[in-house]
Amino acid sequence: MASLTSDAGTLRQAAQAGHITIGTAAASGDLNEAEYCSILGSEFNQLQAENEMKFGPIHPRPDTDPNPYDFSGGDRLVAFAQDHKMLVRGHTLVWHNQTPAWLASGNYTASQLQSILNRHIHAVMSHYASKVYAWDVVNEAFDDDGTMRHTIWYDQPGIGAGDGTKYIEQSLRWAREANPNAKLFYNDYDTETINKKSDAIYAMAEDFKKRGVPLDGIGFQTHISLRYDNPKTLTYFAQNLDRFANLGLEIHITELDVRLTDSSVASLAAQAKLYGKVLTLCERQPACRLVQTWGITDKHSWIPQFFKGQGWALLWDANYHKKPAYSAVLKALAPSRK
Ligand code: XIL
Repeated sequence: MASLTSDAGTLRQAAQAGHITIGTAAASGDLNEAEYCSILGSEFNQLQAENEMKFGPIHPRPDTDPNPYDFSGGDRLVAFAQDHKMLVRGHTLVWHNQTPAWLASGNYTASQLQSILNRHIHAVMSHYASKVYAWDVVNEAFDDDGTMRHTIWYDQPGIGAGDGTKYIEQSLRWAREANPNAKLFYNDYDTETINKKSDAIYAMAEDFKKRGVPLDGIGFQTHISLRYDNPKTLTYFAQNLDRFANLGLEIHITELDVRLTDSSVASLAAQAKLYGKVLTLCERQPACRLVQTWGITDKHSWIPQFFKGQGWALLWDANYHKKPAYSAVLKALAPSRK
């Protein structure tokens, strides 16, 4: 049957031949756009809520409220995924950002925070049990220098689990308890290459594996710029994925985007090349099972708001036209077509 999208088929069709799932972050509000829905349902075989399963959006009121949770956005995304036979990845249970106001202003003690977080993990994972196959249990717990980030969960006042990575361990244990079938991930940014932060995460992962702490994989966010396209960085990227894979962990590229400072023909071509190289890095490592872009279209990308003067980071432009990066990803997913 002829494909409406291109002769080469869709990313999703190309991905089906290999070991890589192709996902994207999605927002239920954007499901009102026909083009958005048609691309989401045909080009990707996984979605992940860009925001709607985070603590603040999903748990906007304290547990003393008769109705502490709001699953509506996440549920709409899950329904879309089920209608289109897509996987759903969960993001994220323990993070310092996008927490609700009641949490920050509650002056909770460590033991109160402990039971808040435990109940949160159980409630959210149970709600999506059998619907969400993998969770970013803990997100961005390290600083760039490899020390623990100071957050409400770690030391303000923290959940009282102990020093170092103890609260991550505790969160993973609660998550395993809440849904023994879900794959449990630690997810972070600027950890793609070998540096102080990825070294610290590696040490944690090695320790967790040794002691049987339930950790199934590592998410590498991969919010990158064209600076990544140099042989040294890409070699370190590959070696880094390899060392985590050698611990028996699954590797997910969870939030891929390649931001630019302009949309010239040359920049779009360079972007395409780098997207292709990231895909190839994942292809060559059998433990790398997911490449997920952080959105579909430049129209809705988070980049312009968070990286001033930058943008044009995704595979479709703001008018839903495929960019050169789209073809590069398609080619990398279907190497026989190269
Ligand atoms: C971003 C979303 O894309 C934005 O819409 C939101 O305003 C802020 O968060 N690392 C993560 C993601 O793990 O959850 C972040 O998503 C981007 C950086």
